[in-house]
Parts: sequence; C-alpha cells; structure tokens
Amino acid sequence: MTMNILVLHGPNLNLLGKREPGIYGNRTLADINDSLDMLSRELGCELSFFQSNTEGELITAIQEAMGTCHGILINPAAYTHTSIALRDALSAVALPAVEVHLSNVHSREAFRHTSLIAPIAIGQICGFGCDSYLLGLRALFDYIKNK
Ligand code: DQA
Repeated sequence: MTMNILVLHGPNLNLLGKREPGIYGNRTLADINDSLDMLSRELGCELSFFQSNTEGELITAIQEAMGTCHGILINPAAYTHTSIALRDALSAVALPAVEVHLSNVHSREAFRHTSLIAPIAIGQICGFGCDSYLLGLRALFDYIKNK
C-alpha cells in the first residue's frame, strides 16, 4: 500500500525566495516542494502539497486528510504560535504530524519560542532551512513505516 503524506505550508510561505531571505533563505516554495518530491521518490511515498494564508483553509485540508493520508508534514508558520484551532484539527484527525520550520524559532523573538502544535506533534525540526522539511519527511516516513 502506498504511503500518502500531506505537506502543509502556512501563511506567507508562498513568498519564500523574496521574503526576508536573510532569515528564510533564497529558495522558493516550489524549490522546497521539488526537493520533497525527489526525496519522496527515493523513500517510496506519495506527497500532496497545500499552502494557504488562511487558517480555515489549513484546517479543512487537515480534516480532509483523514482517511486519505497517513501523516502530515506541516510548517504552520505564524499559526504555530497562535492557533488552537489548527492544533485541535491535528488532534481531531489523529494523524502523525511533524512540525518543521526553516528558521530556528528558539533563537528568535520570545513569541516564537512557544509552539501550540509541538505538544501534539511527533516532533519538531527547525533551523535547517529547506533541510528541516527533508529531515522532517524522513522522520515522518520512518515513524509511519515502523508503527
Ligand atoms: C517559520 C517561523 C515562524 O515563526 C514564522 O512565523 C514563519 C516561518 C519558519 O519556517 O521559520 O512564518 O515557520
């Protein structure tokens, strides 16, 4: 059976490449998705991608993953620090989720040190730029495979 993983990108990540490159790097969201696609072929899993600037759309995407996906790789962006609703959606679908961030949120402003998502995620990977996503995908894939 093919393993399906939903890759979710939160608000403002559509601007990657142009957005504060000193913090988030020069790679676009399309570059990141291409790298993830390449890794998924090596691992042998199927990815679907969704980016939204809207909390409700991300929640709907999480709900729709129930019954179709085996896990969720998510960069919730600023909603990491604010969204009980996103966390509740992830808890509701009870799919394994890995939280990733391009930047090291713990070395930045204090308001970024708290994640409402991390306590219900398998784990959090941050600070490695695009590699955070790739490390996150490997970790999620192995977790689901060995479950
Ligand atoms: C981010 C970190 C968040 O604090 C921020 O709001 C983002 C991007 C990251 O990938 O480093 O939008 O999730």
